Amino acid sequence: MATPVGFHALPLPIVQLSLAAVLKCGQSFRWSIFPLLYASHGDIAVSPTSPTHEYRFCLRDRLVCLRQSPDTLFYHTVFPEVPTSPTQKALKEAETLTWLRDYFQLDIDLMKLYEDWSNRDPVFNKLRSRFSGIRMLRQDPWENLVSFICSSNNNISRITKMVTSLCKHYSPPLLSLLPPCQLDKLGENQEPESYHPFPPPSVLAAPEVASVLRSLGFGYRAEFIQRTAAMLVTAHDLDTAADAREPSEKWLMTLRDLDTSEAREELLKFIGVGRKVADCILLMSLDKREVIPVDTHVQQIAVKHYGLRASSGTKANMTPKLYDEVNTKLAKVWGDYAGWAHSVLFTADLKSFSSYGLPSPSSPAISADAESLGKEAIAVPPTPPLTPSPSPIKRRRAREVTSQPEQAVAIRDEETLQPDDSSFSGSASSLADRVKKRRRVTVDVATKL
Ligand SMILES: *[C@@H]1O[C@H](CO)[C@@H](O)[C@H](O)[C@H]1NC(C)=O
Repeated sequence: MATPVGFHALPLPIVQLSLAAVLKCGQSFRWSIFPLLYASHGDIAVSPTSPTHEYRFCLRDRLVCLRQSPDTLFYHTVFPEVPTSPTQKALKEAETLTWLRDYFQLDIDLMKLYEDWSNRDPVFNKLRSRFSGIRMLRQDPWENLVSFICSSNNNISRITKMVTSLCKHYSPPLLSLLPPCQLDKLGENQEPESYHPFPPPSVLAAPEVASVLRSLGFGYRAEFIQRTAAMLVTAHDLDTAADAREPSEKWLMTLRDLDTSEAREELLKFIGVGRKVADCILLMSLDKREVIPVDTHVQQIAVKHYGLRASSGTKANMTPKLYDEVNTKLAKVWGDYAGWAHSVLFTADLKSFSSYGLPSPSSPAISADAESLGKEAIAVPPTPPLTPSPSPIKRRRAREVTSQPEQAVAIRDEETLQPDDSSFSGSASSLADRVKKRRRVTVDVATKL
């Protein structure tokens, strides 16, 4: 597999990291995902191992673009201004690599962990081959905190929309870039997408933010976000450096050095942060690998597969006692990296992953693939260029955009997420059913469009 033009190659087996799983399973809500379109008339050589998607993530000073083949991670950085010299450029690319290693925690050998979990747990052992490459991201704590305040009583697709509109509204665009699908006819009229970094705490601390977020559809979470930002800024922003991370963000980072219960105690002080949200942040950005965030789905997994007694609590009733019971039980099964193992099981349980890791019905025929991918491509919401304070017309347009039919594979739907037996069995008949279902979903999306 040749390295795509402009990209750097990092050798990395897909069993160590599967972007298709990790960037869609509800850890981060800010990655843009583009199916790659290939011309079907043979002027471009496409091998079955060619990357199928491009993933983009906007940092404060750069846009990171990723593609993946079975044995290589390809990365490419875009800056608002082209680096002045080749040395400058090389330095910046090296920074991106450092960021990638940190964000994906590449020093941690996922194969070893899978081996360990399989030895400890027969349920995991059955899932491991289908759900390989699922690891924990090491996110920025501030972004993680705000995203998971949004996550209460919410589902993935809606959280994603909220986080996206928060960034568009409160963070000027860093740069614009065309989607990566220019090879196909579908791509001809595409407009550049604008990319917005995550806004810093001081921006969200202003009192009027609560009502603005409310008008953007955040509901009761609007005030939680503004008040949490204000608390942080008041407590930690005594001096403000213009460009870099704000002092309050640096303080959040220092929670990584506390032990789990001390760090949790600090997080619980914020508005809109309960035990589960705190545990998500501990696990996903503060290095607490043993922490298992418990919700009703995790509880159901524990009852169904790990012998937790079913009588303890009902759906609407997650008591602190039950939370601890689930936690203790699963932590015992999985050990030091229990939080990581939980994310594999959690992902396997998601409806949107019901055909993940199964042979694709159209994988040998790239042109057929491109056709269905093309439909997905349309379903990726285009980014309307928003000024810092959008006019009513633009706001209406933004709302229309967010009400587009969801991309079949990208839906993270916690509310309708059900323990799905077929994920745990993977029998031939359920495979056929799922393939049918997937086709149906693709067709549905296409018809709605
Ligand atoms: C997510 O939640 C919203 C609001 O509660 C709902 O309208 C939407 O249908 C849900 N999405 C999915 C995929 O279920």
